[in-house]
Amino acid sequence: MSDASAEALLPPDEASYRTVLGHFATGVTIITAMDGDEPVGVSANSFTSVSLDPPLVLFCAAKASSTWPRIEAAEQFTVNILNEHQEDVCRVFATKGADRFSRIGWRPSSNGSPILHDALAYIECTMQDVHDAGDHVIVVGKVLELGVLSEEGPLLFYRGGYGKLAS
Ligand SMILES: Cc1cc2nc3c(=O)[nH]c(=O)nc-3n(C[C@H](O)[C@H](O)[C@H](O)COP(=O)(O)O)c2cc1C
Repeated sequence: MSDASAEALLPPDEASYRTVLGHFATGVTIITAMDGDEPVGVSANSFTSVSLDPPLVLFCAAKASSTWPRIEAAEQFTVNILNEHQEDVCRVFATKGADRFSRIGWRPSSNGSPILHDALAYIECTMQDVHDAGDHVIVVGKVLELGVLSEEGPLLFYRGGYGKLAS
């Protein structure tokens, strides 16, 4: 084995990992749930569709998140897909200690977890599986109900910044 290929097998450092993975453009979601009477939510761009039959989706939650144990305990969650004007919503729901629901309206979905005002679409789920994955867990949700709420464009996340589709 040459020195060059041995080098290629070194695990990536955090900066390289973030830089390279940041080139994968995504939308942005807020994962919401109820902790008793209190709504909880967290920004997540790890959301993706998984299976059509049965209908499954997933997101990845950081084990360090203080919100994740509250969503896990609820066993129900709603994925809210953000529109292009909701960068501020994404920022608030990614800020530790922020009063996340003080500046946004919401209504309960049929499982109770919040559907955010102005979200592009929502996907209401019951938690089916939680898989261990390094410093995150992979959360698989079974889709109970879903809907499109707006024809606006999506909020995009790319290389650490926000954007929207060119019109
Ligand atoms: C654009 C964006 C995407 C994010 N995606 C995720 C994600 O997929 N999973 C996750 O656990 N955290 C994600 N985060 C970070 C969480 O939103 C943030 O760490 C969390 O809200 C911290 O607060 P908490 O400890 O109160 O949960 C993302 C943040 C931003 C800004």
